[in-house]
Amino acid sequence: MTSDEQRWRLIRGDCLAGMAALPERSFDLAIADPPYGAATASEWTLAGGHELPRFGGAWRLADHDWDRLAGVDGLRFTLAWLSSLGRLVKPEGSIWIHATYHNAGIVNVACQALGLEIINEVIWYKRNAFPNLSRRRLTASHETIYWVHTGGPRRRRYRFNYDAARAAAFDGDALKEPGRQLRTVWDVPNNKSREELAFGRHPTQKPLRLLERIFLVAGTPGGRFLSPFSGSGSDLVAAVRAGMHATGFEIDERYHAIAARRLAALPRG
Ligand SMILES: C[S@@+](CC[C@H](N)C(=O)[O-])C[C@H]1O[C@@H](n2cnc3c(N)ncnc32)[C@H](O)[C@@H]1O
Repeated sequence: MTSDEQRWRLIRGDCLAGMAALPERSFDLAIADPPYGAATASEWTLAGGHELPRFGGAWRLADHDWDRLAGVDGLRFTLAWLSSLGRLVKPEGSIWIHATYHNAGIVNVACQALGLEIINEVIWYKRNAFPNLSRRRLTASHETIYWVHTGGPRRRRYRFNYDAARAAAFDGDALKEPGRQLRTVWDVPNNKSREELAFGRHPTQKPLRLLERIFLVAGTPGGRFLSPFSGSGSDLVAAVRAGMHATGFEIDERYHAIAARRLAALPRG
């Protein structure tokens, strides 16, 4: 485990085993960015080559072992980590779950099966989405984020920073005006700053500005944040910046190392 007791702790290992050891209702907010099942074992050769100058330089299709999620085993795995989050997150808090069309149905069914009410389904619109290299599908330009709570349908006590969300404006997002309610479509470019990539990259790294919006809507300054699938630590970094104590799990040594270095480099507020 790597930690800075005052602000964060990052555990290298399986989140299922790790979460089982944590006390119930001990977190105010969780963000899960799980394996999506989007990886393919196929070998691809692209007619136009693999060079994509406007998309971060030379780029190769990659098959990620950690991104396997198939069939009934995928549903069982989703039920396992989601029921742990349901046990660990207070009814006054909430859980946000990233998904694409590969796993969104499974996550939705799992929420309903576990009695976790879906508050909203947010569409993260990526106006600079990666082109479809195979030229056999539309360009996938959005991801789904489920916002759910643990209080059950008759006990809605989850935190919603309504006034802050209503007052906010976001650079370049024409769908949100200050003083108007925040909608469920968020126009957030999938760009990462040099600072976000300073310690290495994760293939599905989330941009900080997307996570900052989640903390604006549902963060609890001074509270506790949980990330079961931390990857390069983007949500942990956003949590610490939002004044929350962050706990994360990452099973892969390379990504754990990136996240630990990002966290250690955060300036003290
Ligand atoms: C979609 S990625 C998260 C990316 C992250 N949001 C970021 O911005 O870098 C999912 C991560 O979960 C990790 N993972 C997969 N199964 C895990 C498990 N059982 N316990 C902990 N981490 C796991 C993978 O190694 C991968 O880094």
